[in-house]
Parts: sequence; C-alpha cells; structure tokens
Amino acid sequence: MNNLTHLLTLAREAAAKAYCPYSHFAVGAAVESTDGRFYVGCNVENISYPVGTCAEAGAIAAMIAGGSTKIKTIVVYASSAQLITPCGACRQRIAEFSVPETLICLADDNGIRRQTGIQDLLPDSFTEF
Ligand code: THU
Repeated sequence: MNNLTHLLTLAREAAAKAYCPYSHFAVGAAVESTDGRFYVGCNVENISYPVGTCAEAGAIAAMIAGGSTKIKTIVVYASSAQLITPCGACRQRIAEFSVPETLICLADDNGIRRQTGIQDLLPDSFTEF
C-alpha cells in the first residue's frame, strides 16, 4: 500500500468517527508529516455551532501535539457529491504548516479526485507581519 492509499484509508476511518449531529456531513483528514508520521482528525461539531471544528484542524492539532512540524501530504475526505475543498480558515491552517512541496489531496468515495497545493487554494496568503 502506498502512502496516498494509506492516507485515504486513515481519512475515511476518521470520517466514520466524526461528530456531526447538526450538519450530518462527516469529514476526515489524514496528514503525513515531513518526518514520516501519520495523524488524523475528524470534524467535531457543537450545539453552539461556531465552536465546531473541522477535520483538518483536528489533524493539524494532532500533528503539532505529536511533535511534527510540517505537512508533507494531507488527504481530506467526505462522502459527498460535490468534491470537498477545505474552508478558508483551514486553508490558512494548512498554509501555516506547509512546505512548498506540500500536497493537498481531495477525496470522495471514488478515491482521491484532485491533488493540489496551497498556492492554488490560498494564493497571496497572509504570511508575514
Ligand atoms: N468541514 C470540515 O471538517 N472540513 C472541511 O473542509 C469543510 C467542512 C466540516 C465542518 C462542519 O462540521 C461540516 O463539515 C459542515 O460544514
């Protein structure tokens, strides 16, 4: 099994654990860090809607807590007709922990449907102050 296949499996498994009683839209994310470790996250909603967190946020938080610092590849999966793309806030989160080669893979039940980079998803992002 190659790493992309493994990441897709991890993202799907994470989505199966999503806590999404309000939207009923389960999302899973899986990160391989540049030091070769794997981290997962799912969306975790809240009755106070803005408190909910995205799958990408969970996976990135797990990566940082696990001691890794940069994303080599992130797979984001949802079983949806329209291919998922990360929300604006998660694009900024991914940008924070990206390297120029970071690969962002968007997946549905047919597998990984799009491979892109943060420059495409978040051009001209806020990087310095
Ligand atoms: N969601 C994610 O977890 N990741 C995305 O990339 C898009 C949206 C979640 C947030 C919310 O729990 C649900 O999907 C519907 O927006």
